[in-house]
Amino acid sequence: MSLQQKVETNVGLLIILSLFVVIWGGLAQIVPLFFQHSTTEPVAGLEPYAALQLTGRDIYIREGCVGCHSQMIRPFRAETERYGHYSVAGEFIYDRPFLWGSKRTGPDLHRVGGRYSDDWHRAHLIDPRDVVPESIMPSYPWLEQNAVDASTIQDKMRALNLVSYKAYSDEQIAAAPGELEGKTEIDAVIAYLQSLGTKIKMRR
Ligand code: HEC
Repeated sequence: MSLQQKVETNVGLLIILSLFVVIWGGLAQIVPLFFQHSTTEPVAGLEPYAALQLTGRDIYIREGCVGCHSQMIRPFRAETERYGHYSVAGEFIYDRPFLWGSKRTGPDLHRVGGRYSDDWHRAHLIDPRDVVPESIMPSYPWLEQNAVDASTIQDKMRALNLVSYKAYSDEQIAAAPGELEGKTEIDAVIAYLQSLGTKIKMRR
């Protein structure tokens, strides 16, 4: 009986050897990523989210924007022609949790920062049909009325310090509530959107 026949006719042996191949292959693919600068270091100029941007990010999560918008431009021509440079790992170093998403009812937002004015975003969030008549995106009029909740920002920054690549300094944490003073939720979401994907120049 050849070795191949032995393995293929013995289910126990086949399972053990298959597991060995899958585990070894997985490790060979994944482990080197932990040691590569391109996946573990932030891209040039990337900073942790400022207090207002971080607050906007949490409102983005609360409102379920990720259910219709991905933040992951894939390295295909059709994507880069439309959105700009494909997303790279070093742009997501400060993202906890990741908001890559997989559903695109609306366009990808990873390089939306700087594409529109703040006023455009304001009008669009309050009623998307004011600026894009055929839009099916929901309106978010309450964002303009709600003041941001500044009471949790320092705890959030401290929590991110525990899990994130680079710590917020004590000064940044101390200054955070002041930066949120007088701001509404729509200001925060716009600040967040305008920060997205701007560290790698668009090719267009
Ligand atoms: C039900 C799906 C849906 C949800 C939920 C949704 N959107 Fe959209 N969004 C769309 C669609 C469709 C478009 C394209 C039409 C338009 O521009 O309004 C769009 C467009 C956009 C654009 C313009 C993108 C571009 O490149 O032109 C931005 C910015 C945006 N959405 C932000 C948000 C934010 C922030 C939220 C959460 C507060 C959100 N969206 C929630 C469907 C959605």
